[in-house]
Formats: sequence, structure tokens, C-alpha cells
Amino acid sequence: MTTNPNTTTVSATSESRTVPSFAVISGAQVQQALQGREKQIVGLAETTYRLHSAGDSVNPPSYFLLFPDRPSSRIIALPASIGGQVQVDGIKWISSFPENVAAGIPRASAVLILNDHDTGYPFACMECSIISATRTAAMAAMAADWFSRGRERPTRVGFFGVGLIARYIHTFLAGTGWSFDEIGVHDLSADSAAGFRGYLEQEGAAKQITVHESAEQLIRSSDLVVFATIAGQPHVSELSWFEHNPLVLHVSLRDLAPEIILASTNFVDDVEHCLKANTSPHLAEQLTGSRDFLQGTLGDVMAGRATVPEGRPLVFSPFGLGVLDLAVGKYVYDEIARSGDLHVIKDFFHELKRYG
Ligand SMILES: NC(=O)c1ccc[n+]([C@@H]2O[C@H](COP(=O)([O-])OP(=O)(O)OC[C@H]3O[C@@H](n4cnc5c(N)ncnc54)[C@H](O)[C@@H]3O)[C@@H](O)[C@H]2O)c1
Repeated sequence: MTTNPNTTTVSATSESRTVPSFAVISGAQVQQALQGREKQIVGLAETTYRLHSAGDSVNPPSYFLLFPDRPSSRIIALPASIGGQVQVDGIKWISSFPENVAAGIPRASAVLILNDHDTGYPFACMECSIISATRTAAMAAMAADWFSRGRERPTRVGFFGVGLIARYIHTFLAGTGWSFDEIGVHDLSADSAAGFRGYLEQEGAAKQITVHESAEQLIRSSDLVVFATIAGQPHVSELSWFEHNPLVLHVSLRDLAPEIILASTNFVDDVEHCLKANTSPHLAEQLTGSRDFLQGTLGDVMAGRATVPEGRPLVFSPFGLGVLDLAVGKYVYDEIARSGDLHVIKDFFHELKRYG
């Protein structure tokens, strides 16, 4: 991290502390730092998630700001702190305004603030919708890999809800070695389905790409199903659609009826985070009064504490952890600092002498 040219040494403690400089990082810079680095970012997500699973992080519950006058919208605060070698604190502040999409602008927008480990000073404010999509896709690719180890890898993938997140997840699967014979696409919006299909064709993503009108067809013809809708309540409740026991990445968290959850093997990224905010696993807990339907976390699988039974659908519901945003954000910051392209805001921290 660079330091403020008007460096002030805080002498209240025996250590000498300096006020960091404050940088603003644009979406264009974030994208440049992350593009084409899928393997590296999945590695980073895995290291960070292992730190979190080992308890070397602080990741309190996300705070949901909801609006009586705009019930479909929300802004979520995800504060977090990472230990290990990264040692950074911060907060993601991410809006979801689903009606934006019809107006031609993305649903989600976000900033990430990074705070200095030693002084607490914020030292960067960065565009975070790309970081958020990146860490979500990295986690999904990591989960697809871990949950298909020791068995045949799915070659038929179905994307259920195909906005920005679905595109990033496909990019991360492809960028980490997945290839598919068949890709299925299903979306309530014909425009979204056509747009995603166009993206897949341009990428040369599969021999066969099919847009399915029905949810049932999509699920029945996919061994790996990726949910990335914006559904607020379950809309898939037919157990027989899952009789071929697919691997389900339930990224949008609220698509599956509790009955499907209860008939499946369930893993989450973090139990306390995921069993909140009326996610499908939270509904299953409310229905049964127990968490017995949960097999464990992905961290348990990675550490060998949990095994993945066969013979049932496997549903992974990742709530999404602020520590992953921080880790990816810090990686981006370090890359840009290394290349000498940080846009530092001069004199951002100004009132630095206690008595003037
Ligand atoms: N778990 C995580 O870590 C995490 C992180 C980021 C985003 N998300 C979630 O991912 C989801 C997708 O985000 P996005 O930015 O791609 O959204 P988006 O608005 O760009 O796309 C969502 C798509 O889903 C479609 N859709 C909505 N309801 C549907 C339904 N019932 N059936 C079929 N299609 C439906 C919409 O038409 C749209 O094309 C959101 O729910 C978001 O909250 C999860």
C-alpha cells in the first residue's frame, strides 16, 4: 500500500504508524486486473475460503437494507476481515435493483472499501460488481470441481436464469478446464436466453446449445444445473425432475422448494450465513425445525471431514462471503499498485494534526 505524502506519524503507541494514501479504482481497471486469470482467482478463492473455514477471518452476518416503497430492491452490507498473509479489513456495499434490467442497465452495482490492517484507515474504494461476480463464479467453479471429484464429471450443463452471474460462472468453468457436450439455457425472458445463447456461440462453448422453454426440460437434460435467477421464493418443487441426481449449484439460493432440499444431499459455504434470509435451506429448517438435512460445508469436504454420498441430487447453496470479495479486491489493488496505475486522491485524509 502506498502512503500519504503528508505522512503523519501517530505517536500514541510505540510503533510508528502512517496514514495511507487513498485510491479510487474503476471497473475498467478491475476488469483488466482479473481478465483471463480464472485459475489464479479460483486458487485465491480456495485459499481464502480455507482460511475462513479454519476460523482465521471475521465475517459477521450481512446486513440487508430493505425499502417499504421499493420491495423488490435491497442494498446489502458485507463487512469482513481476513487474517493469514492477506491481512485486510473492509466492506462490500452492493445494491440489487432488479427493475434496472428492463431499463438496460445491470441489476447489481457495488463498491468495495479496503481498510488498512494496522491503522484502520480506508485506503481504496473500488468498483465491486465485477469483483462480486468474479468471486461468486470462482466459488461456483471451485464447488463444481470438489463435488465432482471421484465421480464422472458432468458434460451436460444447464443454466437456469442467465444474466451476468450465469455468464461469469460459465467463463470460470471454461477457464478452469471444464468442457461441455451440451449446454441448456432456460430463462423467463426470451431476450436474456437469446443474449446468453449468443455469448455461448461466440465463445464456441459447446457442440450443442439448446434454449429450453420449460424448466423441467432444462433440469432433466442437465447433470450440472446452475441456478442464477432473481426469484424471491421457490418456483421449482417437482422432485421427479431431479431423479437423475444432478449436481446443482444453487447460486440464487431461493429457487428450490424445501421438499427438493429435503430430498437432496445439501452443502453450503457457511451454515450460519446460509440459513438466513429465507433461502431454500432456511425454509427447509423452518419446515422441519432441524438442520439435519445439511451434510456440511464445502470446507468440510475440502478438509475431509465430510463425504459426498451418491444416489441423491447434490445441492450446493453458497450464500457468498464478504471475505472472498476482500481477497479478490486486495488482489486487484496489489496488481494495480504494482503496475503504477493507482489513481490516488491527493489530500483525501486531511485533518491529520490533532491540535491543528
Ligand atoms: N450466492 C452468491 O454468492 C451470489 C452472488 C452474486 C449474485 N447472486 C445471485 O445471482 C442471481 C443472478 O444475478 P444476476 O446479476 O445474473 O441477475 P440478472 O438480473 O442479470 O439475471 C437474472 C436472470 O434470471 C432470470 N429469471 C428471473 N426469475 C426467473 C425464473 N423464475 N426462472 C427463470 N429465469 C428467471 C431473469 O429473466 C434474468 O435474465 C441473483 O439472485 C443474485 O442475488 C448470488
